Amino acid sequence: MTDQFSKKGEAWSARFSEPVSDLVKRYTASVFFDKRLAMFDIQGSLAHADMLAAQGIISAQDLADIERGMAQIRAEIEAGQFEWLLDLEDVHLNIEKRLTELVGDAGKRLHTGRSRNDQVATDIRLYVRAAIDDILVQLKALRSALVDLAERHADTILPGFTHLQVAQPITFGHHMLAYVEMFGRDAERLLDARRRVNRLPLGAAALAGTTFPIDRERVARTLGFEDVCHNSLDAVSDRDFAIEVTAACSLLMMHVSRMSEELILWMSPRVGFIDIADRFCTGSSIMPQKKNPDVPELARGKTGRVFGHLTGLLTLMKGQPLAYNKDNQEDKEPLFDTIDTVIDTLRIFADMATGISVKPAAMRAAALQGYATATDLADYLVKKGLPFRDAHEAVARAVRACDSAGCDLAELPLERLREFSDLIGEDVYAVLTLEGSVAARDHVGGTAPNQVRAAIARVRAQLAG
Ligand code: ARG
Repeated sequence: MTDQFSKKGEAWSARFSEPVSDLVKRYTASVFFDKRLAMFDIQGSLAHADMLAAQGIISAQDLADIERGMAQIRAEIEAGQFEWLLDLEDVHLNIEKRLTELVGDAGKRLHTGRSRNDQVATDIRLYVRAAIDDILVQLKALRSALVDLAERHADTILPGFTHLQVAQPITFGHHMLAYVEMFGRDAERLLDARRRVNRLPLGAAALAGTTFPIDRERVARTLGFEDVCHNSLDAVSDRDFAIEVTAACSLLMMHVSRMSEELILWMSPRVGFIDIADRFCTGSSIMPQKKNPDVPELARGKTGRVFGHLTGLLTLMKGQPLAYNKDNQEDKEPLFDTIDTVIDTLRIFADMATGISVKPAAMRAAALQGYATATDLADYLVKKGLPFRDAHEAVARAVRACDSAGCDLAELPLERLREFSDLIGEDVYAVLTLEGSVAARDHVGGTAPNQVRAAIARVRAQLAG
């Protein structure tokens, strides 16, 4: 009898007449990146062993031995003492080999009714599920930090932009709440994807199922899966759940990137709307005066890498025939990097949100340039009976007059304003102020400070729930 794992270590050596070259071994191995699935691999194996024993496929003694061996392996990994061998290709074979060293035949029986194909699919689903839960915690922290910032600046006015040109006055609190909404949808998307992640592949074995009398529902229950995968070929071969989560992460990073772009712009001395705490910035090795917003810039840059992973994973899947192909081993690094990038980014952003100092005077000065209340003047005329298109034209003429006079609409004397429409009265100045403008947008979703406060209360209730 040859040892299950030969001297060279391959679990299938009995079938082969020559070993693979060192280069091929390195090329095909995944242990150096999939070892981070170790704890999920052990969790899955224990659930499988528990089921095998409950079904009488292995003995109670075997189960006890497997549990004892796995406890030791866990401890060795945690202590950094586990010896990972390239010869053993991947996390699964490394752990199985060590188990067999520790507990003998019981270790060799663990793989009954199972394949690495359904094993790895299970590990990844456990990993992705945990990752989603981590991201949801971080998203909550970021949203609540942004809500706090919004509350401090529910009344702070800045220009809102379209086409990067001053459009209408808004409140900074309202602007922050826009991101709170985006990150809220990101959380919803992940939560929705979680339902599809949370299905058990084990039992699919290599691709066709197994001849042993397994109890898949029991394993699903043990591992906290909501259901089993209903087709064995699909269970071992598709990675759509991972792609879906990477897509949700890409949208999340797209939001982070847009926010980063604004922070960078606002922090530019040319704009000067905000400052970001020093601990998120770096200086220049040559220009002593510099304070650069490195964290938002890097977040904007790292967004590209997550988008790249999404494209990579989609491309990885698109040409694969059913069922499992080794191509799928390439799912891990992009997935791990996506999750790591998102979690680090969210953690830093939640902290950075507390380190943003707002400069209301600069925001106000900017809002006073660019005729931000022109729409308010048009609305005023409409309320006095002028059709909107005529009002639009009258105000456009007033803006041109301001342009040549080099002043703001609110600075034109009443008799000048009345040249554009005799409907204009003394009460127009209340409408032309920034405060009047934002306060007037007083409906759900509007920028009025009391609407911002109401929105904050709604989000807080949601975050507490
Ligand atoms: N390391 C492999 C992976 O990540 C595990 C599954 C290997 N299965 C196989 N039939 N070679 O996909």
